[in-house]
Amino acid sequence: MSTGAGCWLAAALLLSACSDHGAWVPSAADAPAQASRRAAAAAARDQLASQLLGELTAALADGGPAKAIAVCRERAPALAAQVGSERHLRIGRTSQRLRNPANRAPAWATAAIASAAAEPTFFTGPDQQLGALYAIRLLPQCVQCHGRTEDLSAEVRSALRRHYPDDAATGFAVGDLRGWFWVEVP
Ligand code: HEC
Repeated sequence: MSTGAGCWLAAALLLSACSDHGAWVPSAADAPAQASRRAAAAAARDQLASQLLGELTAALADGGPAKAIAVCRERAPALAAQVGSERHLRIGRTSQRLRNPANRAPAWATAAIASAAAEPTFFTGPDQQLGALYAIRLLPQCVQCHGRTEDLSAEVRSALRRHYPDDAATGFAVGDLRGWFWVEVP
């Protein structure tokens, strides 16, 4: 009798967890119901990635890494906001080792980030919205600000210390998983 009651309780808890309004569930990379949202997410990611890389490359050529830090500090969040509002979605960058704590990922992405998802990974939210995560790998030009601390210039090191006292985003090598673009498509 008591075992039966225990089972009912367990089942009731399980059901209430499943109908939790905050629930996001994994979505297959080829799920037909999410195909158009996946296309929207990929297009937004492509646009933000190429704009960021373009501005970063220009700033590095123009003033070196110490000056280019401003692109990452100011332009990266501004471009993400702009792409998001143009395309009616939310987009940002995040990492398992954050430089700026404000770049923390939305809650649905936490487990995939902890498991270092290297392939595009998708989730469906309680209102059928899509959550997408796309890995970002370190390129050669990223090393001057995300490489080993002893390889950063004194100028870069002091700018990072000043702006990011909790910086965890050094020590990466070319090809390493540096972080992710996340996109939420309503
Ligand atoms: C000129 C220095 C510099 C270079 C070069 C640079 N970054 Fe960054 N990166 C930063 C700074 C500064 C931030 C923090 C931005 C902010 O405040 O949102 C940052 C943040 C990030 C983030 C967001 C997550 C976090 O840790 O806050 C990612 C992802 C990232 N960089 C990847 C890259 C990649 C990939 C490259 C090479 C294509 C690159 N960075 C090149 C300075 C740099």
